[in-house]
Amino acid sequence: MHTLQELLDENLWQQYITLNPQVKVIHRLLRARDERIVNDHIAMRTFGDPRVGIAVMAQPFVQLGYRPAGNYTFIEKKLRATHYEHPDAGQPKIFISELKLEQCSPALRNCVDGLLDQMPPGASRAWYFPGSGRLWQLSYQQYESLRVESEYAAWVAAFGFMANHFTVLVNTLKTFDSLQNLNMFLRGHGFKLNVAGGEIKGSPTVFLEQSATLADKVTVEFSDGVSTIPACYYEFARRYPMPDGRLYQGFVEKSADKIFHSTDHSS
Ligand code: NI
Repeated sequence: MHTLQELLDENLWQQYITLNPQVKVIHRLLRARDERIVNDHIAMRTFGDPRVGIAVMAQPFVQLGYRPAGNYTFIEKKLRATHYEHPDAGQPKIFISELKLEQCSPALRNCVDGLLDQMPPGASRAWYFPGSGRLWQLSYQQYESLRVESEYAAWVAAFGFMANHFTVLVNTLKTFDSLQNLNMFLRGHGFKLNVAGGEIKGSPTVFLEQSATLADKVTVEFSDGVSTIPACYYEFARRYPMPDGRLYQGFVEKSADKIFHSTDHSS
């Protein structure tokens, strides 16, 4: 049995910051202000296939005590998602989305099928499956043709299984009293923020405000050469109390829809 710390900190976090230098820099900047950073949620992406879908990816988290706590649909992007919570409220929520393959073109389904067929037997049953990376060969040409139909599919094909983003809970920062101020600080340090749907997605009315950096570009090895493509971003969330006084813990479909664009080529 492995611990939550091994899965979240030693596996997912280490892999995420290794691939995404901007996260390390932002962490250092916040630490320099004596901030203690609390992680609101970790977002994972996968394909809606019985071999690797949400239920499969959730398994290692469920074994460590996580339970489903909300379902979401993104019609235009052909995604569905579930968020999981841990009984220890100090642990980050896990947000897992999957591409609804049944709504995609036969060409895309064929391509994804070919990738999943290459996975080593039993790979999806490993405790570290959510952070096992790319388990297949992929050509840049395949990546590009997936991207024409779905940026999301191309991202999962290129990076495989890993955290797409971690999220700073802005509520627990002492030196920023608003998400606006944090964004201004980040921009001042040269970070580009995702402006799809406005720099801040959501509002106090929906009990959640979010912003995100644009993804770092990284060099990825394809079977026909290397290429530089967008990887992961860092997200910032401010949660608001509901009428019963408790902080809202869910997600807002309209906001998450825009946040997904942080890994687009066009942005
Ligand atoms: Ni998120």
